Amino acid sequence: MNEVTGFGRGKLILCGEHAVVHGQPAIAFASDLGTTVHVSPCDGPTHVIGVDGDPRIDEAARMALGEQGHEVRLSSTLPLGRGMGSSAAFAVALVRAGATLRGETLSEQEQYERALPIETLFHSRPSGLDVAISVRGGIVRFTKGNPPVLEPLPCPSWQVVVLDTGKKGDTGKLVDHVTSQRPGIDPILARIGALTDEVAAQLDDVEALGALLDENQRLLAQVGVSSPEIEELCELALAHGAHGAKLTGAGGGGVVMALVTDPAPVLAAAKAAGVPAWTAKPQEQS
Ligand code: PMV
Repeated sequence: MNEVTGFGRGKLILCGEHAVVHGQPAIAFASDLGTTVHVSPCDGPTHVIGVDGDPRIDEAARMALGEQGHEVRLSSTLPLGRGMGSSAAFAVALVRAGATLRGETLSEQEQYERALPIETLFHSRPSGLDVAISVRGGIVRFTKGNPPVLEPLPCPSWQVVVLDTGKKGDTGKLVDHVTSQRPGIDPILARIGALTDEVAAQLDDVEALGALLDENQRLLAQVGVSSPEIEELCELALAHGAHGAKLTGAGGGGVVMALVTDPAPVLAAAKAAGVPAWTAKPQEQS
């Protein structure tokens, strides 16, 4: 068989990361950035080319495609390890390529069920949020469960500027760090859950929404997943007209998301500071 491809989208979490692992709701939207896998036949064990040093990458390919006979090449527009769901996008891309190879048509639920164990290779207790958004697209309120609860939200018209700290965050370690502080931090996690409900109710009011994102950032800092670089980028965005700014994803580095009406001043300030930055916006489910 010739080459087959599969694509998985990344995501941006608007509110509720980390708390979602512990049963609170979160809201996230799909990014148009993502990962494509190109799968071609080969002799011998299934393997991924062009990425070295992490045995979980080959293992993921074998889980999705089978132990033998496939060579995988990756192309990704997502920054890796920056909180934009690159491991979930990879898992979903592999599952979709595997389905094409086998001539299967998978429902969204089936794609989710196959991709989640693959994401689990990369960090041990994913909430499922990244995989769910990667599969479904759009903007969704998500609560973990088996099956998870996904509530599609009306697509708002604002955009965000994404600013990259240039540092990788280790999602598994950060999730473990938050978990290790329970039950002492449970009131903070519950407040993040309540904030998520307020965010859903204020989705079209950028001023109110910005204030909620700022509070979410302060709470994430309290549970120890912010960093000096993240705080600096939030301040830069707020000083240039952003309505609110927070880390998105696991934190510890990664990217910051700043809610804006006009992205130009934040983009210009980022450029002047040598910080990679780009815009993103929620899209209707594709
Ligand atoms: O850093 P990312 O893109 O893997 O996002 C992690 C989001 C968390 O809420 C911290 C973990 C999870 O599984 O939901």
